[in-house]
Amino acid sequence: MENFELQTPTRIYFGRGRENEAGAIAKAHGARKPLICYGGGSVKRSGLLERVKASLAEAGLDFAELGGVQANPTAEFSAYTARFARENGCDMLLAVGGGSVIDSAKMAAYCVHTDFEPWDVTMKRAVPTERVPVGVILTIAATGSEMSDSAVLTNGKLKRGFNSDLNRPVFAIMNPELTFTLPPFQTACGVVDILMHTMERYMCTNTDNDLVDKLAEGELRAVIAAGRRAMAEPEDYEARATLMLAGSLSHNGLMGAGRACGLWAHKLEHEMSGLDDRIAHGAGLAVVWPAYLQFFANRGAGRERLFRYAVNVWGVEPDYTHPERTIQGGIDACRAYFDSLGMPSRLGDLGLTEADIPVMAASATDNGRISYPAIIPMGLEESVEIYRLCL
Ligand code: NZQ
Ligand code: ZN
Repeated sequence: MENFELQTPTRIYFGRGRENEAGAIAKAHGARKPLICYGGGSVKRSGLLERVKASLAEAGLDFAELGGVQANPTAEFSAYTARFARENGCDMLLAVGGGSVIDSAKMAAYCVHTDFEPWDVTMKRAVPTERVPVGVILTIAATGSEMSDSAVLTNGKLKRGFNSDLNRPVFAIMNPELTFTLPPFQTACGVVDILMHTMERYMCTNTDNDLVDKLAEGELRAVIAAGRRAMAEPEDYEARATLMLAGSLSHNGLMGAGRACGLWAHKLEHEMSGLDDRIAHGAGLAVVWPAYLQFFANRGAGRERLFRYAVNVWGVEPDYTHPERTIQGGIDACRAYFDSLGMPSRLGDLGLTEADIPVMAASATDNGRISYPAIIPMGLEESVEIYRLCL
């Protein structure tokens, strides 16, 4: 096990009806005037926004509201949110939505009381030391942003993440019922993203972290089953609850504890949804991941890990005489599962073409200057090869 640090300060308020406590919870975390941040309108259609406002009013809190965060949020809107919060005297950003709303709020939070711009913070040109607190009411189980130390913004065609423990929200209200209204496509994108946050960390170079390996395998099996159930029956509370809790645990740092790993398939995906912000993050990941593993399998790298992954996560029958068959079985089973969720499987399904590959690979590796320490070091050439396996 590698040395590590882990801080997960976000207080979770989990379960049915908890959003009706939003006022009391925000107040307990020091808010006097929260700014309710939300996306394109799903929280209005579901009636959630009205319930949140009623709860804030009941707790005697003044508040302001700002909708309009787009999926794959822009640095520009995040900057506007910071100005809006400052002009309205808000002392907390209350993100009601998914990863996009949360990330937009997280990065705005650095800029309410400073002259920083969210994009400068993202690119590490401005170094924040404090921020306005961020609270969350989660409406989609997916990114884990409600507990994570990261936030991702897009500026033009560039999508980049910023990691800091300051990013972690102070609280997250998580009622699985709020996810009943998700379109099947978004449910599926969420399932893929949850799996990916654990699978990527599992696909590490050290193979001696038995506790975290087994936590990961158990979590992955539970998410695979819950994903099937939630797709078949959107109002299956237990399945939705499993996905919601797993989303947080997948990306709060626990699954990376003691591992040497990175989220390089994520990096390759961010180039895709950066190039075209209509691409949903989970859908892009569904295309990249099988190709990412195929790349290692083709090179005969990471064989023990890939073998264990196939058997312990996807239930492939181990073939010790022909381990490559077992490995391939794991990759194929994952691809088949993503297909069963209705996810895309090729770059073309996302509207991307072969011509986009050199652009994305160059951007991911800063024109070949960066190489990532994955099972095989991943540079420009490797990134191109993986993207080509996505064709
Ligand atoms: O905008 P509205 O109208 O609310 O609709 C949203 C949006 O269209 C809709 N939706 C959300 N909850 C709903 C709902 N529709 C009906 N009922 C509900 N209960 O779903 C659509 C997608 O929402 P979004 O917030 O974009 O999804 P997600 O949570 O997957 O967030 C994706 C963003 O987070 C980033 C991604 O790259 C992407 O930009 N990520 C953030 C991470 C982090 N901060 O830790 C880690 C991830 O790896 C990821 O990169
Ligand atoms: Zn992700």
